[in-house]
Amino acid sequence: MVCLGNICRSPTAEGVLRHVIAGEAPGLNVEVDSAGTADYHVGAPPDRRSQHAALRRGIDLSGLRARRVDPGDFLKFDLILAMDRQNLRDLTSLRPAVSTARLRLFMEYAVDSCVEVPDPYYGDVSAFERVLDLTTLAARGLVAELRRAG
Ligand code: 4NP
Repeated sequence: MVCLGNICRSPTAEGVLRHVIAGEAPGLNVEVDSAGTADYHVGAPPDRRSQHAALRRGIDLSGLRARRVDPGDFLKFDLILAMDRQNLRDLTSLRPAVSTARLRLFMEYAVDSCVEVPDPYYGDVSAFERVLDLTTLAARGLVAELRRAG
């Protein structure tokens, strides 16, 4: 899961995906992680507003720490999911020549939804709630697809 700062959207997406897997497909053997394309907040916990919005839905993000996307991620992970189109463009330029990961927009997994998770950083509480709504939709779609793929 990748966004710009790795303090709002992608740690939320990481926590939500873990939560959906635990509830709907606990046997699914996947490793979930998140990172940012920028290094502004490396080492920081998720934004307090993201933590509060997630906790209201029973998801604890407090143990996560921001990191930047690493060249090794493109070999370690099968799927790298961007929160918005700019993240996807930045990932394409960070991608090393040798890369086995597929790059996609996370919201492609959400049926009948928008294609990006809008950046909530300069928004109000509702922007952070929307991140939870959207990432939950996409996480459910992704888990359904992973279960179908076996
Ligand atoms: P994120 O949100 O990419 O969802 O983690 C942002 C976090 C920090 C900044 C921008 C977006 N920033 O400009 O510092």
